[in-house]
Amino acid sequence: MPIKSIFLIAILFVIVGCSVRNQKQSKVNKVEELLAKMTLEEKIGQMTQVDFSVIGAPAGQNLDDPIDKAKLEDAVIAHHVGSILNTPTTPQNKAQSIEMWRKITQTVQAVSAKSRLKIPVLYGIDAIHGATYTKNAVLFPQAINMAATFNPELSFKEGAITARELRASGLQWNFSPVMDIGRQPLWPRLWETYGEDVHLASILGASYIKGHQGDDFSASNKALTCLKHYVGYSFPINGKDRTPAWISERMLREYFLPTFEAGIKAGSPTIMVNSGEVDGIPGHANYHYLTTILRGEMGFKGFTLSDWEDIKRLYTRDKLATSEKEAVKIAVMAGIDMSMIPMDFSFYDLLLELVKSGEVPITRIDEAVSRILQVKFEAGLFEPDNKMLSIEGNFATPEAIATNGQAARESIVLAKNDNHILPLKKDANILVTGPTANLLSAMNGGWTITWQGDDESLYPKNQLTVFKAIEKKSTGKVTYIEGSSFTDEIDINRVIEAAKNHDTIVLCLGEKPYTETLGNIGSLNLNQAQINLANAVIATGKPVVLITLGGRPRIITAQVEKVDGVILGFLPGMEGGTAIADILFGDYNPNGRLPISYPRDTNDIVMYDHKPMESYESNGYKPLYPFGHGLSYTTFQTNDLKLQKDKFTLDENINITVTVKNTGLRKGKETVLLYVNDIAASVTRPSKQLKAFKKVELNPGQLEHLSFTLTPDDLSFIGVDLKRTVEVGDFKVMVGNETVTFSLAK
Ligand code: BGC
Repeated sequence: MPIKSIFLIAILFVIVGCSVRNQKQSKVNKVEELLAKMTLEEKIGQMTQVDFSVIGAPAGQNLDDPIDKAKLEDAVIAHHVGSILNTPTTPQNKAQSIEMWRKITQTVQAVSAKSRLKIPVLYGIDAIHGATYTKNAVLFPQAINMAATFNPELSFKEGAITARELRASGLQWNFSPVMDIGRQPLWPRLWETYGEDVHLASILGASYIKGHQGDDFSASNKALTCLKHYVGYSFPINGKDRTPAWISERMLREYFLPTFEAGIKAGSPTIMVNSGEVDGIPGHANYHYLTTILRGEMGFKGFTLSDWEDIKRLYTRDKLATSEKEAVKIAVMAGIDMSMIPMDFSFYDLLLELVKSGEVPITRIDEAVSRILQVKFEAGLFEPDNKMLSIEGNFATPEAIATNGQAARESIVLAKNDNHILPLKKDANILVTGPTANLLSAMNGGWTITWQGDDESLYPKNQLTVFKAIEKKSTGKVTYIEGSSFTDEIDINRVIEAAKNHDTIVLCLGEKPYTETLGNIGSLNLNQAQINLANAVIATGKPVVLITLGGRPRIITAQVEKVDGVILGFLPGMEGGTAIADILFGDYNPNGRLPISYPRDTNDIVMYDHKPMESYESNGYKPLYPFGHGLSYTTFQTNDLKLQKDKFTLDENINITVTVKNTGLRKGKETVLLYVNDIAASVTRPSKQLKAFKKVELNPGQLEHLSFTLTPDDLSFIGVDLKRTVEVGDFKVMVGNETVTFSLAK
């Protein structure tokens, strides 16, 4: 390139850089100007978020217009609320048509435009695997499945498509992604996480955010994300939702903070707070987490939002406060900027009293409101041309549906394939049975059309369940007999009888949809009715393929030993049925990998990155299937693992190369996983930790050279002094069956 062009490009970069900085600065000035004009009531209103029901028409009244105008004006004009959340309550909390959403959000903004300072309302929604509450939106595999794809590009695309479908619905703020780490399999929200590994979850979450927000989340097809639930929510000791976690400061920093750090770095401007408690301190009262660490250490500049009713619960549930008023004071002073009250205005009234009496300083209010306004400015909410994205070309497009199909296919784990039971022949006679075989809800889980996702009657009629998708592809006879529901035997004898006339049995077990406390269970064991069905099917002696669907790894060890094929489907979303049928018949070569350790027994909860003593002497990491497990219809081999040298200094990057070859007969995708082990350190280190991965597609016989770079940070850990540190000494790098070592010196 000629010198002149380089010079011009450099100038252009400086100009663009300055203009981005100037834009940010001008938004800061605008915030200050606006804040200076605001009354105390207007400021506290901005910190207030109410549920739709607060502005909703009573059930059954005028279904064409779910908003009660007087109530909306009371919220937005009289109480100055800064935010509203959720789908209409009239006649039921469920997905609305896209046209209805456009009308709702326009009505809300029209009222905020009539308010004294015309501050727009930020509308928030849970769109955790696509635009959950917009009818016919593209609903992706849930996060646990997105993690199983090990494909950041798909996560990026999911983010981009979700944002587009939200904006076409007039919505702009998504309470997603969940950046909690999934290391407690009983927890009923495990499937909302990207699994047990910190690196994988950080990469996939960050990719989702980048796709969702782009470089500028005010763009007409982009929307804001919200990291949740900061921090430690996912690790309740008894496995029940919203119960105590006991996480030491070291563990917090090692396993729970890094994913949030990655989300902040990716640009997420809002964070929702942990509804439970850690180490005796409820998330909503934890100054150390919400202010010292989040602001002081991690430099988060956006605003924090409480979770549902959780400030009140500091009083009503936790008995941390002696009144709701004290609860408000504790939460606001701990660092909560916006309260999802969400069913009344008590937070608004009480905070007003607290500021007037001097118990909460106005400086803290100004700080919280500035953060909220800053995000609203950055989101372009104040700009007159902040138009709604057109539906045409942006909603449920063929390209988005195809991406969803690809995500579903890559998210399914083939765990066992003995005697080449799979792929099945297209003309085989197949008996399909089990409670998850013919339900779309069993593939989608919670936060689908409704909160619990369990109202099958509301699901789109054109989507295929596992049974319907098998039936569509097959040229043989396909019969479906339910056998058992999730909890009760139905017609097991009919299943046994029908087995005689079929070549193969596809047995679909698992869980019904759920989320939050309603999904609590006391054991990972499957219900006895499903076990009975499985045992009866196995006893027929016919070849059996077991498919599991659901949000948690339910115990299937005894059954797995007796069947030839096992597919772990988790929650693959709306295209899940087709994806599973594609894999069953070999139209797609499976490549999903487990993002969790699948336990062998209900109390056998050992993570792959366990400490040495967890696999010492008679202890062992012996899950049913380990983290990263997943088979293909072809075979791959990794070889030639090499380091550029074997001695490094503490601040050096480490370059690693390896080859991967498709040694089988079919084209396929392979994920190469690179693990590190710090051989000896002053704090015990995991036997191995994932630090990098790459997914490649290879033709039979094709070989690819891969290179990875480890940074000093990848070798670091939380030291004795609770600070991140890298120690000199020896390290192992492991890929496939190979290991190389290097040493680190000063
Ligand atoms: C959940 C959050 C969700 C919020 C709003 C809460 O009960 O914990 O994940 O974003 O409700 O629906």
